[in-house]
Amino acid sequence: MASSVTTTTTVGRMIITLSLLYLFTPTLVSSECELLKYDTNLLEFPLNLEYFEAEYFLYGSMGKGLDTIEPEIAAGGPPPVGAKQANLSPLIKDVITQFAYQEIGHLRAIKKVVEGFARPLLNLSAEPFATVMNDAFGKPLSPPFDPYANDINYLISCYVIPYVGLTGYVGTNPKLQSPISRKLVAGLLGVESGQDAVIRSLLYEKAHEKVAPYDISVAEFTDKISELRNKLGNNGLKDEGLIVPTDIGAEKKIQGNILAGDKDSLSYGRSPREILRIVYGTGKEHVPGGFYPNGGNGALAKRYLKRGNN
Ligand SMILES: *[C@@H]1O[C@H](CO)[C@@H](O)[C@H](O)[C@H]1NC(C)=O
Repeated sequence: MASSVTTTTTVGRMIITLSLLYLFTPTLVSSECELLKYDTNLLEFPLNLEYFEAEYFLYGSMGKGLDTIEPEIAAGGPPPVGAKQANLSPLIKDVITQFAYQEIGHLRAIKKVVEGFARPLLNLSAEPFATVMNDAFGKPLSPPFDPYANDINYLISCYVIPYVGLTGYVGTNPKLQSPISRKLVAGLLGVESGQDAVIRSLLYEKAHEKVAPYDISVAEFTDKISELRNKLGNNGLKDEGLIVPTDIGAEKKIQGNILAGDKDSLSYGRSPREILRIVYGTGKEHVPGGFYPNGGNGALAKRYLKRGNN
């Protein structure tokens, strides 16, 4: 009795296994495609930030952009406005050149997995950066902040973007269906957070120094920029400066804040909407501006823009 049940069960299992194999083997590839299709919008969205970073780092370090160095990656998108070489010391120039080439890799890696889109129009002139600082301090800085002027200004301007990309990858990861997407996003997140850590470390060394000609320290700049991003993103505390009140520091024990993290020191995540509110500088995902005069590219950014027009 028992053995016949076992046999039946075994045979049953075999039949099930065989039919499962038969059913699923030919469709494995197409189901992977289905999953990737589901992930497409989320995977291509970060191209908006990666284009910004690639162009800003390329111009900042070498005085030329994708159109000179890797033209096909721009996919015919308009060249950025107002980008130029920054006045950098050899060390910072070297670091930013490395970041620049890393961003080209990131663009390529995303476009290997999804079709993606062309480079959006980017306004990388000094003024949008000056506007961020004026908004951060709630008053116009005099003279206007110039990101291209020197090492410290450029590093402060770099504090503005890779971190936003990092929070985007953290926010996206749990929404992804395909292992291929998750692998890509983990790889991107690793290097973006590395870039953020390098920028923060270089700034942390000078946290108490004043940024000439303002009577404002490096730490205060980071604090105000983070505060502005929290306000624009409009979804709670997800951004922290280099020196914070103790109850925001790791384990509520320390004011030095070389890396930002939540109460368990895990990275904060942001949605595409929150990111658009921040990088447009308008606090509204349907109102473009700042570094993206025409808004972002791709289905997600365009959908939010269109909603604003209705
Ligand atoms: C870039 O930004 C500056 C200052 O915000 C503005 O004057 C200029 O018109 C912008 N350029 C484009 C193409 O949007």
